[in-house]
Amino acid sequence: MKDLSVERVLEGLSTKTIGRSLESYDVVDSTNSMVKRRAQEGEEEGLVIVAKKQLQGRGRKGREWCSQEGGLYLSLLLRPSLVIDGIQQLNILVAIVLSQLLRKEYSLPVTIKWPNDIEYCGRKLAGILTQVARDKEQCLFLVMGLGLNVNQMKEDWPDPIKGQVTTLREELKEEIDLTILVISFLNRFEEEYRKFQLRGQSIVEDPRLVDLISTLGEDVRIETLGGRFKGRAVRLTKEGSLVVELKDGICREFFEGDVTIVRRIEEIEGGSNG
Ligand code: BTN
Repeated sequence: MKDLSVERVLEGLSTKTIGRSLESYDVVDSTNSMVKRRAQEGEEEGLVIVAKKQLQGRGRKGREWCSQEGGLYLSLLLRPSLVIDGIQQLNILVAIVLSQLLRKEYSLPVTIKWPNDIEYCGRKLAGILTQVARDKEQCLFLVMGLGLNVNQMKEDWPDPIKGQVTTLREELKEEIDLTILVISFLNRFEEEYRKFQLRGQSIVEDPRLVDLISTLGEDVRIETLGGRFKGRAVRLTKEGSLVVELKDGICREFFEGDVTIVRRIEEIEGGSNG
């Protein structure tokens, strides 16, 4: 498997700040933790840390993120002048950038499962973990962690997860050059991030979202810290929260949560093929 080349990434970048400071490691605890530590020491916006392998890769809700060789584990430091309410939008922005990239440059019609999982045919291809340091309502810095399944071997995942994930290599039937992927992601991200900062309007109004988000219009089950709910996902708020119309007709906003499309649960359980 070809390693990521920092030199080639730097040559290929057209960004002003994002990725201009770029570090690549063989093994780390977690790229998010590393970037967080550096941010606390005063590092500037744009630092990117990539690793071949993580020993303590983390997903949302403190879950373990399997981080064997071949995947892309990348974290990015941002210092946006943003109130905390805007974080979910940035989260969604990363998902838009990545899914556009995979659609346009790899011809893979991926979708976004709210808030920011990237899926192909219902299997997870990528996840994003955003960690924020705040001072009251103001964001001090933000670490965007991206885990993308690229060239890993399916056997490397533990059994219950194996059936729920896929990799670029598996879908495209070829080994993917991580260097090209990273260049493209960072270039595209900076462009969209600048627009986002200038725009002053919600990311939710982005017309690309209608086509990209697979969750909207579906019957869903959502598991949150406050419990488990069932209903129809009807829209996003301008902050990026998901509005679900519950069985009793009441609409409830969710800022976080794990969404499962109900049709899919039935398929897994051998019920209706909806
Ligand atoms: C999810 O739960 O879907 C989010 C997964 C995010 C994983 C990435 S891999 C790079 C970065 N470092 C981590 O420890 N986590 C994120």
